[in-house]
This record gives sequence, structure tokens and C-alpha cells, in this order.
Amino acid sequence: MNWVKRLTEQPALSREEWRAFFAALTDESKEEIKHHAVSARRDHYGADVYMRGLIEFTNYCKRNCSYCGIQGSNRQVQRYRLTEDEILSCCDQGYWLGYRTFVLQGGEDPFFTEDRIVRLVKRIKKTYPDCAVTLSVGEWPKSSYQAFFDAGADRYLLRHEAASDKLYRALHNGESNAKRLQALWDLKEIGFQIGAGFMVGAPGQTLDDLIDDLIFLQALQPHMVGIGPFLPQSDTALADAEPGTLEWTCLLLSIIRLILPEVLLPATTALGSLDPKGRERGLLAGANVVMPNLSPTNVRDLYALYDGKICTGDEAAHCRQCIEKRIASTGFRVNMTRGDHPTRRNLYAIEC
Ligand code: 5AD
Ligand code: FES
Repeated sequence: MNWVKRLTEQPALSREEWRAFFAALTDESKEEIKHHAVSARRDHYGADVYMRGLIEFTNYCKRNCSYCGIQGSNRQVQRYRLTEDEILSCCDQGYWLGYRTFVLQGGEDPFFTEDRIVRLVKRIKKTYPDCAVTLSVGEWPKSSYQAFFDAGADRYLLRHEAASDKLYRALHNGESNAKRLQALWDLKEIGFQIGAGFMVGAPGQTLDDLIDDLIFLQALQPHMVGIGPFLPQSDTALADAEPGTLEWTCLLLSIIRLILPEVLLPATTALGSLDPKGRERGLLAGANVVMPNLSPTNVRDLYALYDGKICTGDEAAHCRQCIEKRIASTGFRVNMTRGDHPTRRNLYAIEC
């Protein structure tokens, strides 16, 4: 069986077929997969790498995901939340650096009620009507997602974390993933460009669990997929667990590019934290997005999901230059436009 051909032409593999695909992998076929992933990416996006300005606006969180450094029960974390004005000033700095997408990411912080998020989104969209706003603020009732969308939010990132209920429960104190998976379907139905995703090498994750993730992504057809290696954080119960690997993360990036050729796929900060050339390797495996940090430097290191996070001491302007050099030296080109999913581009062009 020529698996690369099969993945490009008929990417809906059954579980058994995925098992056979992984069992048949060789160094040679991995190279072939990478090569085809890069050309699929080139077919849809040329050499462009899209930039998103990330604002980590609160590290308060009421949840207790076992892998995450800012889980609510971690008493070692110094908590912070930015004010609305501080968030706007991050956007302002980002705007002048050329960013046209702002990603507002935070823990599930009860201070940021639906009304406060709605106000924030409206203010950003009013100040920067030519920018896309992406929310990454965890799980809410469906009515809140609708309120965020009506306020003008364009995109919503909610990594599904694990499509396998067993693994999800193991990582989230026994909680089922049903609500989280449903949330992604709801967000898509409301009209957001949605982003799902998971960690590679999460403690306890098996090949079958990863196959569940691929099958889920294939069914959901998200516009974005965020994957990065699991990296241990020293205050958590998983402090001594093995990190995910560069090889597996890059292989999965390539596979995701092949099964969702038009997807927006970041080379994540976690990948750059695992290896000094991680983000470059991600781009060379089929990724086409980077998300440099726009948060104020005095809070950067407090958003410590895992140990060894890069860029914590670097000003936004420095990251912008640094990442631009990395992208160029890898043979790609920075694209500072909103970078909507191809199926959504004309829609916004008309609106603007
Ligand atoms: N290692 C890698 N990624 C992590 N995340 C949370 N904790 C870690 C960790 N220890 C990821 C989760 C979450 C996203 C914001 O960061 O997948 O959805
Ligand atoms: Fe932040 Fe390189 S991207 S310093």
C-alpha cells in the first residue's frame, strides 16, 4: 500500500488502517510524508508563514489539568491578570509591529465573566477593525460562545487535548471529554474558525490514543490545529514524566497537513522550547503559523504551563525580529495579514 498516496487522496483512514500505516513507517517513508506535507502546504499557502500576536492575559485558572503549570491548585504560581487597558496596550504595540491577529489566551479565570470578555472583544474590534480576534479562554456554556461571536470574535482555540476518553480522564481527574468535544462542534456551528489540538507524548498516551486524535480531527475538520510536545512542569504531579519528542511532533504535523491540507498549523512555542530549532523544524514538517508573545515582559514567565518556555524575557519587538529571521532562514516568508482559513478569506475581504 502506498500510504502517502492514500493519505493525500483518501485521508479518511479507519482505525485499522491507521494502525497499519504506523506499523509500516520507515525512515524513508517518514521523509516522503514530510516532503508531501511541505508540498501540500506550498500548494495552499506558498511560502507564507502567518504571524499571530499572543496575549496571555490571565494565569488564574479554576481547572486542574494534571499536566499544566497554572492549574488552580498550584500554590507556587504568582497569579496575575491584565486589566482591559493593559490588554489594549498589548494590542496597540502588536498593531504597530504589524500584527493583524490577536490571540487572547488565559486560564479559566472567574474574574473574566462573559460580560467582561464581550466588552473586551468589542473594544478590540472597535479599535482595530482590520484585525482578527482569536479567543482561547477554555470551556463556557454555548450561549457564551454565541455572545463572544456576536461581540465580534472571529476564531476560537480549544485544544481537545485527547479524543480518547480514557486518556482525557487520566489527565483531567476523571472528567470525561464529552463536553469538550461537543464544545468544538458548537463553536464551529456558531461560525467561528475553530482550532483543536493536543499534546504529543502526554503521559500515558498510546499510539491508539493518537489515532483517536487523528480520526477526530478528520471528522471535525477544524480550521486550525495546535499541537506541541508535552513538557513537564516542576510543580505538577507529572514533573518527572518524559517529555514528548521533536520527531513525533514533526511527524504528526506532517500527517495533519496531509489529512487537512488547508489547515492553519502553528509551529508552537512548546516545540521551540523543546529544541532550539524546534519551530524551524515544525515549519519544515508542514506548519505555517507562528504565535509570538505580546504579553508584557514582567508577566511572561508567570504563564508557565511547562518548564523551559522560550521568549519569557524578550520584548515583543525582539521576538518579531527573531522569528522573522528564523522564518526567512528556513526559506519561508512572513505574512502579517489576518491569515484567515482559505474557506473564509473572501468573506472578510467583503466585510472590510
Ligand atoms: N506541556 C505542553 N503543553 C502544555 N499545555 C498545557 N500544559 C502543557 C505542558 N505541560 C498546552 C495544553 C493547552 C495549551 C494552552 O497548552 O494543550 O491546551
Ligand atoms: Fe521570541 Fe525568538 S521568538 S526571542
